[in-house]
Amino acid sequence: MLSKAMTDQLNHQINLEMYSSHLYLQMSAWCAYKALDGCASFLSQHAAEEMTHMHRLLNYVQETGALAVVGGMEAPPTQFNSLNELFEQIYEHERFITSKIKDLVHLATVEPDYSTLQFLQWYVAEQHQEEFLFKGILDKIELIGTEGQGIFFIDREIATLATNPAKETTSMTPAV
Ligand code: FEO
Repeated sequence: MLSKAMTDQLNHQINLEMYSSHLYLQMSAWCAYKALDGCASFLSQHAAEEMTHMHRLLNYVQETGALAVVGGMEAPPTQFNSLNELFEQIYEHERFITSKIKDLVHLATVEPDYSTLQFLQWYVAEQHQEEFLFKGILDKIELIGTEGQGIFFIDREIATLATNPAKETTSMTPAV
């Protein structure tokens, strides 16, 4: 059985994962609008992935007998000054999500709630992977540059991540 504090914090995380999905879907739409089809495809796929993160949490809360709450959210931003800015925002957002997972792990440790602590290990590994993925994309943007044909090559490179996400995996990749 979850404590009230743990239920509230897990429900907040459900809402955050949904917001991540909305944010990446909106970013995908912006990329499509700018004819960056590879980035649009990758971000659309990632938006769907965020919903699986949300459902994993929702199912866990429900399995404990607590009431899962999806909540509402603000609309994500629709305009970005550049592709670089867009991916910088994603990287910062993922670092924020990592901090929220750490807060959950901290609460599970001090309560203590060993079941939730065990459940959260998947998210700890996932956030390691997410930060690695988006830092890698920022590094590629820096390396290739967005001047001239650079943006075309970046879009093509990111398109390969949509079709082959395993390319960016490490030993910390959470088992699905
Ligand atoms: Fe649900 Fe992008 O982490």
